[in-house]
Amino acid sequence: MSLTELQSWLQLAVDTAQKAGELIRDERQNHSLDVDYKDGIELVTQADKKADAYITSALLQATPEFSILAEESENDLSKAEEEGLSLWVIDPIDGTVNYAHHHYQVAVSIALAVDREVQLGVVHNPFLQETFTAIRGQGAFLNGQRISASTTTELNRAIVATGFPYHKNNLPQLMQEAGAVLQHCADLRRLGSAALDLCWVACGRLDAYYEHQVKPWDMAAGRLIAYEAGAMTGSYATETREHGELSGHKILASSRSLYEPLRALLLAGTK
Ligand code: IPD
Ligand code: CA
Ligand code: CA
Repeated sequence: MSLTELQSWLQLAVDTAQKAGELIRDERQNHSLDVDYKDGIELVTQADKKADAYITSALLQATPEFSILAEESENDLSKAEEEGLSLWVIDPIDGTVNYAHHHYQVAVSIALAVDREVQLGVVHNPFLQETFTAIRGQGAFLNGQRISASTTTELNRAIVATGFPYHKNNLPQLMQEAGAVLQHCADLRRLGSAALDLCWVACGRLDAYYEHQVKPWDMAAGRLIAYEAGAMTGSYATETREHGELSGHKILASSRSLYEPLRALLLAGTK
């Protein structure tokens, strides 16, 4: 894939994310939110579904040869991968709980993965008008300005973000990990959008982010943006998982110096 092609697809992804951002802002300002719960637990609004439909149709119209993985419509990764090597990975609203509660930490996330390697990503926060972008090998940007990750070296100076799943069946383990981080780092944040957590690592607002389990659409774009901004990105799992870069199992992103100490801390918290 040439750089020119990647640049034109990034522009398509940015335009689509920003238009979807207008849609979700308008829905929240001018309409009732029409909240529902998937499996009785996971919050979803009509705006998630409308934005998903808008993004998937805009991308498919422009690139009919690509396949789609989108949280609210085509969310089976194995099936999407069978349909083609080039895959748009879409979270129409990352931070739905924030969205429904009128908080501002909300984003549209779109990545393009080719053969399980993410080539470009955009994460757009329509409430703060912040658009984070990256193309593999080309650096990371916020509203067109180059960004770089924190250079914090000391765990006890580090502000670390995390997230928790909707299902609460693994809480003791999660509390153990969070406890280890809280004990050894400066402070912990739960901001409510994995995509933005990763972008905030990318621009140095956070020193690190980890989460036990996220989905490909939560992190595909944000993780490339963090990596391209100079953060270390990977997993604190000891076992390897299927789906390579699209696996969100025990995701970890941080300043370069903090990666190994944090990984060790989380692994100790895992025991
Ligand atoms: C969630 C957010 C949250 C993370 C959860 C995700 P959603 O995505 O990214 O920060 O902790 O794991 O499911 O449901 O708002 O798209
Ligand atoms: Ca999400
Ligand atoms: Ca979502």
